[in-house]
Amino acid sequence: MRRLLRDYSQRSAEFLDCFLLPYAHKWTMDFVSFRPIEEQGRPARLHARNDLLHFDSFPTRPTNGARILRLFTNINPAQNRVWLTSQTFETFAPHFARAAGLLTAPRNPFMDTIRSMARALRLPLAQRPPYDDFMHRCHNAMKEDAAFQETTRKDRWEFPPNSAWLVFTDCVSHAVLSGQYALEQTFLIPQSALVEPQRSPLAVLQKITGKQLAI
Ligand SMILES: [Fe+2]
Repeated sequence: MRRLLRDYSQRSAEFLDCFLLPYAHKWTMDFVSFRPIEEQGRPARLHARNDLLHFDSFPTRPTNGARILRLFTNINPAQNRVWLTSQTFETFAPHFARAAGLLTAPRNPFMDTIRSMARALRLPLAQRPPYDDFMHRCHNAMKEDAAFQETTRKDRWEFPPNSAWLVFTDCVSHAVLSGQYALEQTFLIPQSALVEPQRSPLAVLQKITGKQLAI
């Protein structure tokens, strides 16, 4: 298994360097994963459900504005992997910025003090910048909004066996309906390498709030 994941990582990196030249050698390799569990009916608490539309955010691995680019491969020999996608972050951000309290709730000065102390001590709590705080709250607010999940327009995608797809999952709202056995490699693209930085979730949010959200 370790060899399989290492090989997938390596080949993903080689592919990305050829396929997306502007980002070649500028990305950072994040985690690689194997997804062995059937997604349809997979039990999970609300915020961990994969079958609800969301933008990706890593609660324990803040990106501070770097983009989340993920390469998926369906290695199931017989079964499609089925996704739903909907609008992009630019479209949904104003609504969920309000729903997640970004526009109304000022940052808590007490927590800001705790965070800066934690930062000085290099504790994990310190590492989540305002950008990641919001993205995580947005992720949860989307999954909690049953009316949004029910009524928003969706596109259905069927990825057949041995197909691969590449997605900025912090920008494309997505859900996984079914499928078993997939590999996934995550890359982080720094703001400095982006072809259109003004369309990144960080830039969109900073425009909405008028605040600096990365540290
Ligand atoms: Fe996701």
